[in-house]
Amino acid sequence: MNELIDFLACPRCDKTPLGQGEGKLHCKACDIDFPLLEGMPWLFAEPQAALGEWRGRLQMALQQLSHENAGLEQELKNKELHALTRRRLERYRKAVENHRRALQKLLRPLDVQTLHGSYETYLAMRTRLPVDQGLNTYYANVHRDWAWGDEENAASLKQVRAVLHDHAELGNVLVLGAGAGRLAYDIHTNMQCATTIMMDFNPLLMLVARAVTRGDKLKLHEFPIAPRSLEDDAVLRTLEAPEPVDEHFHLLLGDALRPPFPEGSFDTVVTPWLIDIITEDLPVFSARINRLLKTEGRWVNFGSLAFSRPERARRYSPEETKAIIAEAGFSDPYVSQATIPYMCSPASRHGRNERVFSFSAYKERDANKPERHKALPDWIVTGKEPVPLTTSFRHQAMTTQIYSFIMSLIDGRRSIKDMAIVLEKQKLMSREEAEPAIRSFLTKMYDDSQSTSGL
Ligand SMILES: C[S@@+](CC[C@H](N)C(=O)[O-])C[C@H]1O[C@@H](n2cnc3c(N)ncnc32)[C@H](O)[C@@H]1O
Repeated sequence: MNELIDFLACPRCDKTPLGQGEGKLHCKACDIDFPLLEGMPWLFAEPQAALGEWRGRLQMALQQLSHENAGLEQELKNKELHALTRRRLERYRKAVENHRRALQKLLRPLDVQTLHGSYETYLAMRTRLPVDQGLNTYYANVHRDWAWGDEENAASLKQVRAVLHDHAELGNVLVLGAGAGRLAYDIHTNMQCATTIMMDFNPLLMLVARAVTRGDKLKLHEFPIAPRSLEDDAVLRTLEAPEPVDEHFHLLLGDALRPPFPEGSFDTVVTPWLIDIITEDLPVFSARINRLLKTEGRWVNFGSLAFSRPERARRYSPEETKAIIAEAGFSDPYVSQATIPYMCSPASRHGRNERVFSFSAYKERDANKPERHKALPDWIVTGKEPVPLTTSFRHQAMTTQIYSFIMSLIDGRRSIKDMAIVLEKQKLMSREEAEPAIRSFLTKMYDDSQSTSGL
């Protein structure tokens, strides 16, 4: 911890150094403790809120698995099942149950037991984190990183090498959005790094990274999207690193948008598959990376360029991306593009080829300091200020009421036409309007109930 602590600053006030206590770090200026998760600093600006949020996600994931298990038991009661189908479902049910237990054990450091809640309540609360960033969003990555992904992992490292040229002395390295950690590990063990810090905000990925990089073997199920054969819908994998890392490799949990480091700390910042999925607009995020680097430090990027912002103006092309980076205080980025395999599990029929966009760019001057990132307004984070009655909340409140009223009309006897009559009687809509509205809402509910849920 001594080497790591010298790199850290408070994610709330940016002050250094952080104090060290029993199982925690402390910021004197803010008078706040940051817990350790299996020895990894939990450096979120609101550490308790972030813990609560991830605990909630874990609880929801566990409940969904229980829910899935109950559904499978129900399906297995069907006496007409084909013998092969029965075998597949029985195997799968056992795997789901084992996976639930394995997740619970692996994430025990989050102390889930203290939270109780119903499945429905957690479903309703999941809007808190970006919906595309759940506990299991990148779960498949752990299997690629530490079980079957040699070819893909080597291709990733090759892309990083391609943009480094001959200048492979990386100094103090920060890998942001490092996921389950394989690229950070490969960079640290194959290149000349003084220290490497890998950071991500997802505790599942980080706990896997922590275990394997220190030499543990983990057994976890992979659930391929398109199983190759009957037994491929749940495959028990052993996750392990080629060898344990040395003491200059560090892991920490935090938000890349509130990076807990003093300015000018790093010689190299690596962003693997991050710039197009992070919620912050690229010009602002580029300035944030710039401020983390020493002058003449390098930003190394690798991954897709598939910005999925609601505004088309923010879905940047390679040309715009290059220009934005140069305008954020960097040299003209040196770019390498290549098509590499992506998430081609040997147990799945599904896999991708991705034309990755990698670059390296030297910091030439300080970018203007971006404002501190606020993921959410204070009334959500502190819970102490009035919840504003915005027009969109008013609108959502009304539609939610109507939807919950429609759901309450489902009694196993009423048809859509009968429901439309009730809505008309309640003076909510005319019968003609109500019928298509109910149909489209129930179609969505039906689709949701049929789809295999991703967390
Ligand atoms: C597309 S994945 C890439 C993971 C890993 N770099 C790899 O190449 O396999 C994006 C990663 O960024 C992490 N991430 C997204 N937003 C983040 C944020 N604001 N702070 C920290 N990590 C973040 C996610 O948890 C996820 O692990």
